[in-house]
Amino acid sequence: MAVLMDGKKLAEKLCSEVAEAAGKLARRPCLAAVLVGTDPASQIYVRNKERDCQKCGIDSRRYDRDEAVSEAELLSLIADLNADDTVDGILVQLPLPEHICERNVINAIDPDKDVDAFHPINVGKMVTGQAHLLPCTPAGIMEMLREYGISPDGKHCVIVGRSNIVGRPMGMLMLNADATVTYCHRRTRDLAALTRMADILIVAAGCPRLITGDMVRSGAVVIDVAMNRDSETGRFFGDVCFDEVEPKAAFITPVPGGVGPMTRAQLMRNILEASRSRQS
Ligand code: GUN
Repeated sequence: MAVLMDGKKLAEKLCSEVAEAAGKLARRPCLAAVLVGTDPASQIYVRNKERDCQKCGIDSRRYDRDEAVSEAELLSLIADLNADDTVDGILVQLPLPEHICERNVINAIDPDKDVDAFHPINVGKMVTGQAHLLPCTPAGIMEMLREYGISPDGKHCVIVGRSNIVGRPMGMLMLNADATVTYCHRRTRDLAALTRMADILIVAAGCPRLITGDMVRSGAVVIDVAMNRDSETGRFFGDVCFDEVEPKAAFITPVPGGVGPMTRAQLMRNILEASRSRQS
């Protein structure tokens, strides 16, 4: 029987800490959230982030743009938000429509306002251990490990997935915390042989039920980042077969209620941090 890592409860604690700290600033922190198009999932994500801001004493402004907005128009909006002294954080919800180059848009955000920590300057600072804004999902996972007394020092951390948002930065934070890191991805041969070596297994592949019970070593810490949705029942489930893996693991995150709320809480911490450093 594994210990369930309760991301929802920990995220609530972190959000109340953000609210308290935000209340002490001379000016309320402010997030500008940019949403292009009408993708239903993106709309829910942005609405949830606005709600989180409200709970944390952070102002949020929403900039909705039509699916057909040009890249130049979007870059001009970002330039305006960069220049706006009342805006502390800028978040452009991804994915963007195909005619817009995501890289150009991310690179246009002022790194000091880049609360997703996607800008190459912030990626470089994270890799070299000098970041003040950390990528939300990996940093949320590090916080959860700390809360449950799990030290990465000397452990073998195996990461499945190499996305810029989760897998890659996750490995860097783990390396900075003195773990030995192995990256796996869709071209990895004999995935199971590697996942079985993990003391800490972090799965962010977006492949429903990829990790079965036989792929996990007894006593491992298993972190499931995925949010897959069953189209029939509408229920969410992860990349890990929870029913098979939970009896073997020492610690495991539920889906939902594990990593997701921690990602959202870390975004609030980043907005607070960006605002603090801009107000000091
Ligand atoms: N789309 C999926 N995840 C994210 C995220 O963390 N930030 C942004 N801006 N868009 C996303």
